[in-house]
Amino acid sequence: MLFIANWKMNMLPAQSLDWCLGNKQELADLGADENIEVVICPSFVSLHQVKGILSLMPGVALGAQDCSAHAQGAFTGQVSAAMLAEVGADYCIVGHSERRHHLAESNELVAEKVRRLVEMQIRAISCVGETSAQFEQQLTYDVLQAQLGPVLKVLAHQKPARLVFAYEPVWSIGTGKVAEPDYIASVVSWLHELWQEQLPDSGALVAYGGSVTEENAAQLGRIQGLGGFLIGSASLNFQKFKNIVHLGSSAL
Ligand code: PGA
Repeated sequence: MLFIANWKMNMLPAQSLDWCLGNKQELADLGADENIEVVICPSFVSLHQVKGILSLMPGVALGAQDCSAHAQGAFTGQVSAAMLAEVGADYCIVGHSERRHHLAESNELVAEKVRRLVEMQIRAISCVGETSAQFEQQLTYDVLQAQLGPVLKVLAHQKPARLVFAYEPVWSIGTGKVAEPDYIASVVSWLHELWQEQLPDSGALVAYGGSVTEENAAQLGRIQGLGGFLIGSASLNFQKFKNIVHLGSSAL
């Protein structure tokens, strides 16, 4: 099972190092369990230093929080998939709802980012999820279909290895509201069916994100077909994150 710590725009470089160094042995122990893979996603400016620590820990991987849709060139401020590969990123989150919302990222742009990551053999963590209005109007599957359509199209022409689809209902991110396990289970199974039909050999995994805490991790961990978690605010505190890893994987 995959446990992804999404630190967002929190933690200065020194704090990121403290989090990793101060909990070095416990972090290594989490990754040493063969059923668990931990992914730490710090800000771009901390990737290099964090990699220096994680590279000595099998089962603990490095992830970025975004990448450019372009391969290289005059794109001031952007970070390419090739740069991420050189710094040692194993994973990269794309299409997070905060970027879709604040930066108006389209489904097509997200798909181009996935393309760049696959070219660099970085595992894309492709985020999808409906807003609360869409949820109330029972539009979840239409929204997910629209968000994933361009991604699946791009992937049909590439040979992606080990993709991650992260289902994150927008109304659940950072709100303390968690979707009902039965509801998450049906979305997870729908996502499995979708990629099995369209990308039969890709070995994709479906993760859930949105207000995952120590209180709900055990229950969420029992959801059939769920392969991991994307953890935001609770991952800033190592002890909380560690407990989520233990509780979320207890049903394995
Ligand atoms: P949260 O964030 O755990 O703070 O709700 C999850 C995410 O946005 O990835």
